[in-house]
Order: sequence, then C-alpha cells, then structure tokens
Amino acid sequence: MTQLPGLLDTEAIRKDFPILDRQVHDGKKLVYLDNAATSQTPRQVLDVLSEYYELHNANVHRGVHVLAEEATALYEGARDKVAAFINAPSRDEVIFTKNASESLNLVANMLGWADEPYRVDSDTEIVITEMEHHSNIVPWQLLSQRTGAKLKWFGLTDDGRLDLSNIEQVITEKTKVVSFVLVSNILGTVNPVEAIVRRAQEVGALVVVDASQAAPHMTLDVQALQADFVAFTGHKMCGPTGIGVLWGRQELLEDLPPFLGGGEMIETVSMHSSTYAPAPHKFEAGTPPIAQAVGLGAAVDYLTSIGMDNIARHEHVVTEYAVRRLLEVPDLRIIGPTTAEDRGAAISFTLGDIHPHDVGQVLDEEGIAVRVGHHCARPVCLRYGIPATTRASFYLYSTPAEVDALVEGLEHVRNFFG
Ligand code: ALA
Repeated sequence: MTQLPGLLDTEAIRKDFPILDRQVHDGKKLVYLDNAATSQTPRQVLDVLSEYYELHNANVHRGVHVLAEEATALYEGARDKVAAFINAPSRDEVIFTKNASESLNLVANMLGWADEPYRVDSDTEIVITEMEHHSNIVPWQLLSQRTGAKLKWFGLTDDGRLDLSNIEQVITEKTKVVSFVLVSNILGTVNPVEAIVRRAQEVGALVVVDASQAAPHMTLDVQALQADFVAFTGHKMCGPTGIGVLWGRQELLEDLPPFLGGGEMIETVSMHSSTYAPAPHKFEAGTPPIAQAVGLGAAVDYLTSIGMDNIARHEHVVTEYAVRRLLEVPDLRIIGPTTAEDRGAAISFTLGDIHPHDVGQVLDEEGIAVRVGHHCARPVCLRYGIPATTRASFYLYSTPAEVDALVEGLEHVRNFFG
C-alpha cells in the first residue's frame, strides 16, 4: 500500500465503519469516493443511535417522565457538543434544522420577514457566488423575487477560484447580505473568507457561510470566521441524515423573526397573537429531529477524538496524491484547482468526451462509487462549458490505494469507450 507522511491510521479507522467492508457487484470491494454527497457512519454513532431508541426515546421539552427528561438531556447535550465543536460563544446560537438547505432557507426567510435594520427590499442587494450549491442560490432568488432586491454574484476564474477583482463593485453600500460557500462541493475550492468578510463588514452587510463541505473536514471556528450565520449538515460529517445546523450570532437571533410557527417555539399563545421563546427554540418549531441530533453529537465526539487537524492533514495528503495521479490520466481535465493548496477533498473532472454518467457506471461496475452530474451546482458547469462532471471525494478513511483503484478504473473506462 502507498504510504505517505501525514496519513491517519486508516486500517484502524476503517474498522469503525462496517459499511466499508461491503462488497458490491459480485464480490468487488467497495471503494467509496462519494463522501461529499454523504459520509459513512462509524459504529460509535450507530451504537448511540440504537441506544437512544432502545433506552431513551421520547419527545423533548414536553414531558415530566424519566424518558422525556433523558431525551431532552441528550438532545440539549448534542447542542452543547456542536457549540463546542464550532467554538460558538453560546449554546443558544446553535439551531437544529433538518439539513444545510433548511438552514440557508431559514436565514433567507428570517431576513425576508425582518424589519429595519435587516429589511431586504427593492433598494437593497444580495450577493452570492457562481460556485454555490443550489441550496445557496435558490433561497436568495426566492428572496429577491419576493422583495425586489437585486441578486448579484462573484464570477469564477478559469482555474476554479472566486474572481474577487471587482469586490468593491459587487459588494456595495446597498448590499444587505453576502452568502457564500466556504469549500465548494463541485470545484473543491477553499474560499478566502477574510477578504469577503472584510468588505462585507465595511458596508455593514450580514455574512452567511455555507460550511457544508468544511465542517466535516477542518476545524470550523465560527468566531474566527467572523460571519453572522454558518450553515452545515450532519450526514456529511459521520452523522445521520435529517439533521442540520444553523449557527447565528445571538443578537441577530434575538432580533430576527421566526420562520416556522408551531409547538415549542412559543412563549404564550392566544387566539389573537403569540409571543416567542428565546433562540434557539424560536427557530425550532414542532418535534425536532431528536435522535438525529443525538447522533450528530456522537459524530462530533468521534471526529473530535481523531482530531480535526489530523483529519484535514490526512485529506490534504490524499487529495494531493489524487490530483497528481488523476493528472496522469490521458484526456482527464480537472474542473477546479489543480493543486492541493486551498482546496478540499472533492475533485471533479471530465474524461475526454465520455459522458460522466458513463464514467460513473463503468466505475460502479468496478465497485467504485463516485458522483456524476452537475452536483447541484449547475452554474459551475455552465461557466466551464460542460454538461456534468465525475466527482471523487475523500474523507478520513480514504486511502491512496483507493486513489490507485480510481485511476485504474478510469483506464477501464477509457478502454471500454475506445
Ligand atoms: N450536496 C451534496 C453533494 O455535493 C449532495 O453531493
């Protein structure tokens, strides 16, 4: 096996993930390279989930019985774990949602119903980028259509980075909110947060960061980011599906209106009007994803026990190796940065004129799982004049041997399509 300095002990780590032992297509060893879509779940999280359902399952914040108290303590304990994981100044700044899309929609809707000084209207502007996932485009398009605010965006350079050369024209005195992705799910680019935040702060705009592809892979410190809102999801960071997070600055959460109304988000209700519970409960209407939050707490424990800096270093080494090996494949074009600097562990590419769906299908027959398509970031494909890409994405259990398997698989693809 290729050994490179800086790798984690993947032999030990892979024992935590039962699914990685699976075989597919009549005995082919699974090579799971679709981690940007969803990560696999370690035994430590699976055990917490089944223990939750076997011993503690109940609704939260509502009962006086033992199970209700245990479930509430576990759910709120998960909030503490997430708050510590992202260095939030207060646990009350952590809102549980169902995924990052819901988190981003929640911010857009808070602002959509807000009064001054947050009000978004036809005299104001919203700024995003051309490399956003659809979940950080469509909510802002909806807000723009509803309020008349102008939607603007940063374009991309040929090498897959944000073009900030016109930052002063894009972010102006009219900008109310700037929302951008920290690490692109399609290009892998790690964006220069500081420059964008500095300009946004100069004009008094709120900053929203989509950290879906960052939280699983690197230390995420919301105070260091200096953003106002940060969104991410559990299922890409060893947690279950159905749980997302929106972190927001406390004074904003106090000022901004709720989006969904219902049980547990209120203080009092009469037939004429209601008053709301303090954040985060104001934004968590109805029965929340309790088991999923508890599972996310266990995922946070798991990642913390390995160390986010160690995970980031491991992925950097695997990504550097993958970029180098992929660039050796004839006719392969990486869509995104071609160095491992300021790039995450998702690598998109095209292979000659072979359609990515065909690439993905032949790789799948070899047991290699990748994602193909526009990766919910269609404007990126339009920008680079391609219909789709094949994307390999790595995580803490990915190995150089899996990169080798991918490269061999791509040789099969090339032979297959002549
Ligand atoms: N956002 C996920 C991806 O990039 C689903 O695949």
